[in-house]
Amino acid sequence: MPDTLTVRDNRTGKTIEIPIEHGAVRATAFEQLTAGDADHGLMLYDPAFMNTASCTSTITFIDGDQGILLYRGYPIEQLAEQSTYLETAYLLVHGELPDAQQEAEWRHDITIHTLVHENVKKFIDGFHHDAHPMGILLSTVGALSTFYPDATQIYDEEQRRISIYRLIAKMPTLAALAYRHSIGLPFNYPDNDLSFAGNFLNMMFKMVEQKYRPVPEIEHALDVLFILHADHEQNCSTNAMRSVGSSHPDPYSATAAAVAALYGPLHGGANEAVVRMMERIGSVDRIPEFVAGVKAGKERLMGFGHRVYKNYDPRAQVIKRMADQVLGVTGTSPLLEIARELEKIALEDEYFVSRKLYPNVDFYSGFIYKALGIPVDMFPVLFAIPRVAGWLSQWEESLLDKEQKIARPRQVYLGGGRRDYVPLDKR
Ligand code: SDX
Repeated sequence: MPDTLTVRDNRTGKTIEIPIEHGAVRATAFEQLTAGDADHGLMLYDPAFMNTASCTSTITFIDGDQGILLYRGYPIEQLAEQSTYLETAYLLVHGELPDAQQEAEWRHDITIHTLVHENVKKFIDGFHHDAHPMGILLSTVGALSTFYPDATQIYDEEQRRISIYRLIAKMPTLAALAYRHSIGLPFNYPDNDLSFAGNFLNMMFKMVEQKYRPVPEIEHALDVLFILHADHEQNCSTNAMRSVGSSHPDPYSATAAAVAALYGPLHGGANEAVVRMMERIGSVDRIPEFVAGVKAGKERLMGFGHRVYKNYDPRAQVIKRMADQVLGVTGTSPLLEIARELEKIALEDEYFVSRKLYPNVDFYSGFIYKALGIPVDMFPVLFAIPRVAGWLSQWEESLLDKEQKIARPRQVYLGGGRRDYVPLDKR
């Protein structure tokens, strides 16, 4: 059988053959079907892109039914087990794992860009003490574009390279500055002797000691969490990065848009919402009442469900195992006990089973962050830090994709027809 789609427009009797390529047909092929002179051709209506591919990509593959996640072909479980975040970021951006020299150069090039301009600290000082750190991160990432005007030369590969180094390197610095500002403690400078995760912990938690020494188990757990959050194909924030990037601003401005998208509780804000949800439930015996409320549509079980995964999110599997390890070191949490019982109940409840709602990446991650001493409102920030590698790899892929141009969707207009203006005294 041919790889084509035959479409007959019953309004006109016209039939067209559309090639099927990689499991998709081109939406523009349907423009051939018109029913009248003013008709610009048939459009495909797909609110929230439930079944619309906006691009081709070779970066991340997800099989939602099988619960499979691959970064450039490598299973997320193997990367979490054997790689580091910086090596994974290299893989996402370059498409291949680095050799020893490439890894050392990549780590050096990022490490030497961890500082931010001293004026950024004055910018952060302008925020209220209780400003949400995602609001600070969103603003400061965008502000970085004003320090690097050459970043607008996005088709100069060297400029793209240095922007990628700077954004991967400075996200932890901006995040830590936001945290230290929120608790009124002095800012810590990066310590380039430490690993990527170790330096983040240093900037977050160093007090008056000469040198911050991260707890190895905590440093490793954080690095694994960064690997798990590094990319996830065309999620909401990556779509924002690609869409804003398509008008060719500098990558700092596009990243600010991606941070804004990630901020939402339905996306990266879910890890914060999960812990606040468990605090609200309060005890295991109040789970049935909460679940009844969810089934009555009063609220959602945050950390559950996914647009693509209709099976257990493979990242959630890894994070759940890590939660046991980390809390074994730091001491367990009553909230984690509630989460475990809630997951058990939900996975046996028809409401969730019938909708294929399983724990996603955000269901257990917050308990680890909490055990690491990270405040709840910083949880989405910890999602943004590693995701910038994914956003940048997707951004660059989009820029170099000859099929891409400025994103400008069509619409189905349902408003009224033409009418003449009525002066105020006649209304
Ligand atoms: C992330 O896209 C990505 O890849 C994102 C991400 C990444 O790495 O970038 O994986 C990270 O954002 C994970 C998702 C984090 N968000 C949450 O945990 C928030 C809670 N989950 C949902 O709001 C929801 O599941 C979404 C937003 C994740 C997915 O929403 P969809 O695909 O649009 O599904 P839907 O809203 O159309 O829901 C389908 C049905 C509805 O019921 P009915 O109207 O058919 O009766 O399932 C129900 C929904 O009410 N439903 C839930 C639910 N999620 C969906 N009901 C209760 N609790 C939930 N969590």
